[in-house]
Parts: sequence; structure tokens; C-alpha cells
Amino acid sequence: MPKTGELDFSRRGVLAGSAATMAMPSVAVAVPGSGRPPAAAQTMATKLVVNGQPHDLVLDPRTTLLDALREHLHLTGTKKGCDHGQCGACTVIVDGRRINSCLTLAVMHEGDVVTTIEGLGTPDRLHPMQAAFIKHDGYQCGYCTPGQICSAVAVLDEIKAGIPSHVSEDITASMHPTNMEMRERMSGNICRCGAYSNIAEAMAEVAGGEA
Ligand code: FES
Ligand code: FES
Repeated sequence: MPKTGELDFSRRGVLAGSAATMAMPSVAVAVPGSGRPPAAAQTMATKLVVNGQPHDLVLDPRTTLLDALREHLHLTGTKKGCDHGQCGACTVIVDGRRINSCLTLAVMHEGDVVTTIEGLGTPDRLHPMQAAFIKHDGYQCGYCTPGQICSAVAVLDEIKAGIPSHVSEDITASMHPTNMEMRERMSGNICRCGAYSNIAEAMAEVAGGEA
């Protein structure tokens, strides 16, 4: 059983400790700020070929491909949804394969060929997938649509190239753009408006009605 004095001492100790802890942030802040300026951000020269145009960029190496496209090249067709690789709004095609541009650093793509929604077609000459999305009402608010269209184009190329998916029954057989194949492959592209069945119809049309 502790004596009264010991208890009192402990209580004071605890209070003093708490006060010291509360005071710590200012100490912690004071030390790094003691006269030295923050280190200048390092940059790296990076070359990207975007929609057929070469671009020489000087970037903070932590810049994502998505931010390089939107903030540095002002190609705002590629959307930032979750910024965590979960929604597919930022999908672009790099060297023929679709990727989430929010999950990759621009400097990792030195010399790569990037296609964004702006490079697929123009208002006067739409890509067949863009035209099919319009025809089948494959969007409502349109926020996910650039990513959906880039993904859809790449999905049909994947199927044509015979790359199997999780739902392919025979991975050695040739692939067909069935409804199940396309839905599975598009599952990383989320549409909060729920335009999924219209997107599937648009893809089926471009695929040649095999779905
Ligand atoms: Fe890249 Fe959502 S913004 S996956
Ligand atoms: Fe609105 Fe897909 S059209 S999120």
C-alpha cells in the first residue's frame, strides 16, 4: 500500500508529464524550423508521348501520371475520382495497355506512348467507342465516361489478343467478347450513375454484336 506522500508525488509526476507532453509540439516544431530553409524539391526531366505529341516535362518525381496529364499538360479529360486506384475514372492507355494513371508515377513512363480520351477521337471524328456510348446512352453525369471509354477500347483489344480473364472458361482457347467477358474486364471502372447495361450495349456494338 503506497503512503500518502508517494501517491501525491505520483499524481504530480503525472500532471507534470501531461504538461510536458502538451508543450512538446512547439518544441518539435521549433527544432526543424531553427534557421534552415526546407530542402528544395528535386525534379526530373521526363519525356512522354501523349496523343501523338512528344512532351518534355520537368516534374517532381512524386507526380502521378494523372497529375502530369491534368495539371502539367492540361488534358483534363482524364478524371480524378478516388485517386486510390479504386474507381477507374483515371484510366488511360499506355503502350497499348490500360492503366489507372493515379497509381503510377509519370517518371516511370519515360518515352511511353500515352493515349487519353482526347487522343481517341475528336468531336468531328469520334472513335467508334465514343460514338457507340452516345448512341446507347452509356453515361449520365459523364464523370466516369472518359475512363470507361479508354478501358472499353483496351478491353476489346485484350480480347482480340487472346488475353484471358477471371471468367474465361478455357484460357488456351481464343477469346470472344461475350457479355460476361466484357463485364468482368470492365469491373474496375465504377459508374455511380449506374449506366452499366448501356455501356455493355455500346461495347457489344463495337465488338460486332458477339455479346
Ligand atoms: Fe484513379 Fe480512381 S482516380 S482509380
Ligand atoms: Fe455518372 Fe458514370 S455516368 S458516374
